[in-house]
Amino acid sequence: MSDEFYRIKRLPPYVIAEVNGMRAAARASGEDIIDLGMGNPDLPPPPHVIDKLVEVAKKPDAHGYSQSKGIPGLRRAQANYYGRRFGVDIDPETEVVVTMGSKEGLASLATAITAPGDVVLAPNPSYPIHTFGFIIAGATIRAVPTTPDEAYFESLERAMAFTVPRPSILVVNYPSNPTAEAVDLAFYERLVAWAKENEVWILSDLAYSELYFDGKPTPSILQVPGAKDVAVEFTSLSKTYSMAGWRIGFAVGNAKLIAAMSRVKSYLDYGAFTPIQAAACAALNGPQDIVETNRLLYHKRRDVMVEAFGRAGWDIPSPPASMFAWAPLPPALAHLGSLEFSKQLLTHAHVAVAPGVGYGENGEGFVRIAMVENEQRLRQAARNVKRYLQSMGVNTGAKASG
Ligand SMILES: Cc1ncc(COP(=O)(O)O)c(C=O)c1O
Repeated sequence: MSDEFYRIKRLPPYVIAEVNGMRAAARASGEDIIDLGMGNPDLPPPPHVIDKLVEVAKKPDAHGYSQSKGIPGLRRAQANYYGRRFGVDIDPETEVVVTMGSKEGLASLATAITAPGDVVLAPNPSYPIHTFGFIIAGATIRAVPTTPDEAYFESLERAMAFTVPRPSILVVNYPSNPTAEAVDLAFYERLVAWAKENEVWILSDLAYSELYFDGKPTPSILQVPGAKDVAVEFTSLSKTYSMAGWRIGFAVGNAKLIAAMSRVKSYLDYGAFTPIQAAACAALNGPQDIVETNRLLYHKRRDVMVEAFGRAGWDIPSPPASMFAWAPLPPALAHLGSLEFSKQLLTHAHVAVAPGVGYGENGEGFVRIAMVENEQRLRQAARNVKRYLQSMGVNTGAKASG
């Protein structure tokens, strides 16, 4: 009997788990670790959402199996969100499916539409499900860049010209995890035209739809007229309402893709716990001030982090969106590589970050810093980083740390 399982063999060791293991060990031994590693929001959901969860959980008939594709009220709430936020008309019956987080949604869609050997275009570096959801489903990945410029479109053209079989799916993720890059509607217009011409499905991950900082709301690919012919988009309550552990997300768009995904899900799951779905309706339909409040809070954290780390001798580009900074290693320590640098930061500065190489080979040379601790802790992290950099002989400048 073989224990060389085909799919398991295709999953490499999870690099980020190494740093996570070290972080857990350091904490267990009593160290105060400032955790900027995982994108796990440190904020609570709105109180009225928790109240709704409790209220519905008290109902005796709320504890059975729920609906795999999501209760109708929640699908309607999501369609309404697309209407008011993006001006996009969505049919809640045929163009929305509720997922157990967008991560599950991406994996279920990959299972539904990928045949072994299909070629999928996915960004590198990327959030792991953008590649491994498809690798688990048997696909081959062809990497494309994350930076949404001319070179990006050239790489798509090359992929179509030189890959056999021709790629059938393209994954995009803006605001990007891990690189925090953002796009405008013109980018999506060009992308949709390209996808139609090349007969490629587009899967757009919009998990950070509400975390934008420079006044320009993040667009949805579905704002492009006709995008629904080729695209489906994933959103999530995880970051928008700080509900990561609740596991509620959505796929919205092309009715054929939504139907395929719903079909697979109907075999795999019974949908999220009904009280959670009811509370998710409260989040989408209720007061939205928390969304703006959290956006401002992450914005402020971004400014504090960029300024304090800069004063500590580590220049970090200011992210326009998302809850991450994508930071090149300080040049004097670039030779360490992102994994060793992350380990040293943890051991010597008590700051956890995610090594860029964990997001793909093109992530080497960077670390991802999640803004999931408060401003005071971010300043403390910068002071610790400064001491570490000085101990490594890095010139941190004459200025005092923030
Ligand atoms: C780009 C991106 N997509 C999807 C997810 C998963 O989100 P969810 O909690 O909705 O599964 C994350 C989580 O960090 C993410 O960064």
